[in-house]
Parts: sequence; structure tokens; C-alpha cells
Amino acid sequence: MKKGNFYITTPIYYPSAKLHIGHAYCTVATDAMARYKRLTGYDVMFLTGTDEHGQKIETKAKEAGVTPKEFVDRIVEGEKGVKDLWRLMNISNDRFIRTTDAYHEKAIQRIFKRMYDKGDIYKSVYKGKYCKPCESFWTESQLVDGKCPDCGRPVEDAEEEAYFFRASKYAPRVRKLLTETDFLEPKSRVNEMVNNFIDCEGGLQDLCVSRTSFTWGVQVDFDPKHVVYVWLDALFNYMTALGLENDQYDDLDKFWPCDVHFVGKEIVRFHAIYWPAFLMSLDLPLPKKVYGHGWLNFNGDKMSKSKGNVVDPYVLGERYGIDALRFFLLRTFPFGSDGNFTNELLIQTINVDLANSLGNLVSRTVAMVEKYFGGQLPDSFDGRSNDDDDLIATVNALRPAYEKEMEAYQFQNGLGEIFKVLSRANKYIDETQPWVLARDEANRERLARVMYNLLETVRICAVLLTPFIPESCEKIFAQIGAGELTTWDSAEHFGALNENVKVRKGEAIFPRIDMDKEIEALNVLMAQSNAPQSDPVLPDVTIDDFAKCDMRVCKVLTCENVKKSEKLLKFTLDDGSGTPRHILSGIAKFYKPEELVGKTVVAILNLPPRKMMGQESCGMLISAVKTENGEEKLSLLMLDDSIPAGARLG
Ligand code: ME8
Repeated sequence: MKKGNFYITTPIYYPSAKLHIGHAYCTVATDAMARYKRLTGYDVMFLTGTDEHGQKIETKAKEAGVTPKEFVDRIVEGEKGVKDLWRLMNISNDRFIRTTDAYHEKAIQRIFKRMYDKGDIYKSVYKGKYCKPCESFWTESQLVDGKCPDCGRPVEDAEEEAYFFRASKYAPRVRKLLTETDFLEPKSRVNEMVNNFIDCEGGLQDLCVSRTSFTWGVQVDFDPKHVVYVWLDALFNYMTALGLENDQYDDLDKFWPCDVHFVGKEIVRFHAIYWPAFLMSLDLPLPKKVYGHGWLNFNGDKMSKSKGNVVDPYVLGERYGIDALRFFLLRTFPFGSDGNFTNELLIQTINVDLANSLGNLVSRTVAMVEKYFGGQLPDSFDGRSNDDDDLIATVNALRPAYEKEMEAYQFQNGLGEIFKVLSRANKYIDETQPWVLARDEANRERLARVMYNLLETVRICAVLLTPFIPESCEKIFAQIGAGELTTWDSAEHFGALNENVKVRKGEAIFPRIDMDKEIEALNVLMAQSNAPQSDPVLPDVTIDDFAKCDMRVCKVLTCENVKKSEKLLKFTLDDGSGTPRHILSGIAKFYKPEELVGKTVVAILNLPPRKMMGQESCGMLISAVKTENGEEKLSLLMLDDSIPAGARLG
């Protein structure tokens, strides 16, 4: 009999770059929670996915020379892409949504229209500050030092026709939800939301929910020059993936309202304010909880590609095993607060908890049963002693203590309860001294009882560790002969294990690591994985395609700045035809015009003429471009002056 249904989600990730350990943090936590709920008898729906629209993706795809869909396909489905990473991390999601899935896009159009028909979405003009990388609009008062409060980068003035969502209308209800219920946790995040976004000067502002300055998004079907704002599109994934406004799925009755959305702290605003307001507008039930977890920093610094300190889960997973990595993330950092990832901490946690407390206990116990009993305890024995009471009482108290922590998403504390018991069991070995008991045949029953108590303690701990380190627990169960006794019910009371249990020695589950040597090796590996990567090679073209480009050597006759343009230089070129050719090129940031006069350059001549700043450009100059640490570097291709104008390249 199932206990009930449980629906849990992660944020859907931007497939704009490779995911790092910070992204994996939330998904591993969600996975542990989903596995825990399944273990305790719930029918679980665990959803994750990717958030694939928006200007950022459109721009990146353009830079990579592919369509936005090709760009996201590669990052989502490709080698070492998002789906690969979740397979590697042993993530047990039941569903994966991509916001480019046709059913989702259609549903978003319908949802947008419903809100419009209700009068909650209206057309107006947007004037404000826009952070391009975050795709977020901000009011002047929300900026921090004039910059984006989320990422600290400069914002730009933006003004355009746009649709707005009447968030202001729902402000009192959202405020009540935040202040009078347990909707948002940890509680520490409530004040920040209410003070900064609802009780602030001017109150909760209506939200701009469409854009016209780019096209990569869900089109507003009744006004096609608009695309739906990426956050409205993205938030509804949690419901379209269950069947809202589509026929693809039909699980809303079973799983909505959602039990908990796990989200990073910087996106709590969208989940705790706008998401409930959107749902109120549609008269839909609200999710039961939003839990805003903290961020993982690396050596005290924010992880970022440009700082070269991004921790690659592939590197760590391949080296230490996925379970060690999953365990480290949830054992070391309190879920609701920020955590500081260091390589030393990782190795230390693996050594202290996994290799010593757990791994060593399992291998010692199994080795002793092998040595003293040939691998199987006798059919029946007594050997009980009051000396066992404390261990047994500790184990019997474990499940409720663990459950309490897990129900509050306190993974670190839940694991802490298990490790208290494991450490008690290690102490029990020192107290009972099995090697001394083994010296005298008269102690046989007592020795068997001590072995039994150790195996039973390990078994119950392993049941409760399953959500965190599932593969290792399978190995432990096999070694200690747990058989079918791996269920939640079997972990309630000490003593379910058969007395004549048969163990099977196996390899060490978590070998100890030499800290000093390892740190050195790890630093090298991480530097390698952070080395700048070259842009991906574009799809193949045929030699005939290539031959269609008329690339020729040209001499620069004149070069000047274009009025009112910071970017453009205007060139007059001798292309060998006898008629001067004009080309505009966006390289003013990199060269002074006088530096280029007389130089021998290369241009593609047979591109259709293009107007820029009111002037016609006939062709394109060839240059080499690369972005490094966020800075664009450009060199115009120049050849030996002895090559005559008009010479063809090929
Ligand atoms: O925010 N530590 O996507 P995203 C912990 N598409 N968590 C981190 C982290 C770090 N160093 N870096 C990132 C989005 N995250 C939206 C979500 S949901 C409808 C749309 C977390 O790929 C971050 O906090 O930028 C967020 O919860 C998640 O990774 C996805 O981030």
C-alpha cells in the first residue's frame, strides 16, 4: 500500500554552458529526497529538465554559428551534456522536460492567452533596466551600485512595447502566503522577499512578460512579434510536465499541488512571488512549498567560468566514484545555507566518514565473521548481554531521528544521525574486543552475538543511507548478507536480520585516500578541466559550398571612422577590379583607421550589399575572433604586401 503521492522538482537548467558541481548540488539533493520518499512508501514524481529559450541562448548560438535549437540540443542531449551528467550522477528523475518540447510551447501559448483574456496580462511600454545575462528586468531602486543585484554586471536602459502581468493585483495574497504560512523555507528567506519586493517603495511592480527584441522563445500567438518572457515560460514547466493545457501527460490530479520545489537562493524571487501570483491568476492550487537552498562557492569564491574555478563533476565522479561525490555534497553543507567547496574538505570527508566510519566498519565486521565463523553465524545462539543495550537503543532511535531531519530537508543532520550510530558501533568493537572473545571457545555464543549486533547495525544504517549512496548500499547489503531486508520497515526495529546470516567478503567500498598526493593530483586535473576550450567545430560543408565564397586579396586605399558609430570603420579597397569597393567593418574597437591604410587584407566579395548606419557595405573583411575571460580579441587577417590585389583565396 502506497502512503500517498509526492511531487518534487529541481529548477530547469539553462543549457548555455556545461553544468558544474553547483548545478549538481540541487539535483543530487532532490534525488536524495525523491529516493527517500520512495523508500518510505510514497509514489514519487521527480521532475527535472532544461530551460531553453531566451536572448542568452540566441546570442550564444549565433556566436557558435548554429541555430538556437542545434545549440541547445548539443548541450542537453550531447556527450557530457545535461542528460549525460544526470545519468552519471545516478539521478532517478521520473520525467525530463525541455521547454522546447512542442507540448510545452503550445501550453504556454494557451496559458498566456488565458491570463490575457482574464485581464491579468495587458499591453504597455516597458522602460527600465535590463540585465542581459540574467534576462531580468529591474527597477532603479532594486539595482545595487547601479548594477544587476543578481550577478553584479552592468544593466542597460530598455524601452519597448511589451505585455505586463498584473503582479500588483496579487501582492496582498502573496504577502499573506509568505508571512502567514510555511510556503517559503528556510524562514530566513521570507523577510528578504517581503521587504525587497512587496513592502518596498511603490510595492510589487507589474512584471514585463513579453519581449520583441529577439525571437528565440514561445511566440505570443495572438501578437506574433512578441515572445513570452523566459521566466513565465520556464515556471510553468512544473505543471505542463504533468499535463496542464496539453494532452501529452495526465498527472495533474495525482501530483499537483507540488510538494516541494527545490531552488537556488537567487531564484527564490521568481518562485516565491511571481509563480504563486501566476497560479492565483489562473485559479490553480499553489505548490505546498518552495525551499531555497544555498550556493556552493569554491575556496571562498563564487564559481565562475571566467575565474577558472568551476568544479567539474565528471572529473570528481571519475576519480572518487559518484556515491562519494553525492555524499560529500549533502553531508558537508547545510542545505539552506551557502557552502564552501574545497578539495581538502572533499578528501577529508571521504576519508573520515566513508573510508573510516562506514567502510572500515563493514570490512572489519565481514572479515571477523569470515575469520571466526567461516562466513556464516550459527543457526541459533544467545550470548546476549546488558553491554549491548546502549548500542541497540541507539540503533532503535535512529529511524525517527533521521526521518525528522529528512522531512525538514536537513540532509546534513539526517546523515549526522546515521554517523553517530556508526561511530557508536565502532566504539562497540573496542568495548567488546571480539579478538579477545575468539581466544576462548566458551565465548562462542557471545562472539556470535557481537557479530550479529554489528551486522544488524550496519544493515539498518545502510537502509537509511540508500537515498544518498545507492550503489554502495547495494554492495554493503551483498557483503553483510542482508537479502531482502533493505526496506524502510525493516529498519524500524533492531533484530530483523536472521541469526544464521551469511556474509560475503568484497572489495573495500571506499578506499582511503592519501591526502597530500591527492590534492596535488586534483589541482592539476581541475586546472586542466578549467582550461579555455576552443569553440566547437561547425557542421561540415562541401568543397563546392566553400568554392562559392569569392575571397580576394584587397589593398586598403582609405579607412575612416563612421560618424555616430563606435563600432564601424569604413574602408575603400582596391579589389583588383579597377573599381574601388566600400566595406564597413565593426572593428573600430581594435584598430585606428590610419594603422590600416596601405595594408593587404582579405575580403569576401560576393555577399549581398548591406546597409549600416545609412551606408552601403559590399562584402566583409576577414578577421580572427576569440573571447577569453569575457574579453573579445580580434585580429584582421593581413597578408604579405607582395601579393597583388584581386588574387583569389582557395
Ligand atoms: O536559474 N551552487 O537556471 P540555471 C548552488 N533556468 N547552486 C547553484 C550554483 C552554485 N554554485 N550555481 C547554480 C536557472 N546553481 C533557471 C531556472 S526554474 C523554472 C528556471 C543553481 O541553470 C541555481 O541556484 O542558471 C539554480 O537553482 C540552478 O542551479 C539552475 O541554474
